[in-house]
Amino acid sequence: MADWRNPPKLFIPGPVHVLPEVLEQLSRPTLGHRGKEYAQLHGETVEMLKQILFTKQSVFLSTSSASGVWEGSIRNCVRQDETVLCTMCGAFSDKYADVARSCGRQVDELKVEWGQAVTPEMVDAKLATGNYAAVTMVYNETSTGVTNPVYEISEMLRAKYPEVLVFVDAVSAMVGLPLHFDELGWDIVFASVQKAFAIPPGLAVFAVSDRALEKSKTVPDRGYYFDFQQFAKSGAKSQTPTTPAIPHIMALNYQCARLLKEGMEGVWQRHAKMADFVRAWAKESFALFAPEDYASNTLTTVKNTRGINVGEVIAALQKKHNVVFGNGYGKLKEQTFRIAHMGDITLDDLKNLLSWIDDELA
Ligand SMILES: Cc1ncc(COP(=O)(O)O)c(C=O)c1O
Repeated sequence: MADWRNPPKLFIPGPVHVLPEVLEQLSRPTLGHRGKEYAQLHGETVEMLKQILFTKQSVFLSTSSASGVWEGSIRNCVRQDETVLCTMCGAFSDKYADVARSCGRQVDELKVEWGQAVTPEMVDAKLATGNYAAVTMVYNETSTGVTNPVYEISEMLRAKYPEVLVFVDAVSAMVGLPLHFDELGWDIVFASVQKAFAIPPGLAVFAVSDRALEKSKTVPDRGYYFDFQQFAKSGAKSQTPTTPAIPHIMALNYQCARLLKEGMEGVWQRHAKMADFVRAWAKESFALFAPEDYASNTLTTVKNTRGINVGEVIAALQKKHNVVFGNGYGKLKEQTFRIAHMGDITLDDLKNLLSWIDDELA
């Protein structure tokens, strides 16, 4: 029987497995969020995040999941009379467009089939047809395991559409995949911490360019909780506008220090190595769902070419080994399954998991 006090080890694409030493950070004595100790914690953490994201611009901490920053990006940087181009290639990039519409903004869609990537040529062709204030992209589409060629798209955007703001959902990419915010010329990037930061859910990290912050001053009705101007004002004092999830920030501080000690190149390579291993297994035992050139280094979506009962295999592994991996997302349920290889999951963990799946299928 399910028991939340004895949960399975997570190989789902978020929340991911959290190390005991990270969990310990969440039980440190609490701090007053307007006190000097908190400012020290916040300042240190933001400085480390700037190194991790390769930016000298603003980095903020939001006590919300990443969905809050979806909304914040639109409400702060797109006016009601402006149009945003949403590039869509799966459940989460589709939702970004829904969020923009729910904020009353005009949305134009660039949609590819689930499992395909968005290319620079497609974005170029679409942007050439209209007057867009911003474009949204998902770096790594968690529902399909596709990594979009965001470096190439960004190069095209910088060359041909420098006036268009660029908002990037890097929820399942940040830390696991290269991300040079300033060099890419992005205006907003965000992620929640339950993915490759490997912290329990409850906090999101986001970076905002100077020009996007300037723009937000001109946008009326930015709302209250995600008002970037309030984040900037509080950030200048190493604070957040409202009471933050301090235990999560302590855990984030701990994880950022570990990441920087390893070095970001090393972190990305570690993810690539885990991905190579899982992809090799997937190709031998099943097939990849994503085209290999765009297959993600943080999760692998496996095409269920053998017609196995995915739900039953997941349940069997939980019963025998107390681990779970992910079924396919939404309409891809049972047709695919997903294995996360991000954060503090190790190659040895993956070897165990895949051998248990093999045993179950034998
Ligand atoms: C790519 C992507 N974007 C956005 C979200 C939403 O993030 P959150 O659940 O932290 O709000 C997710 C969640 O899995 C995601 O994978």
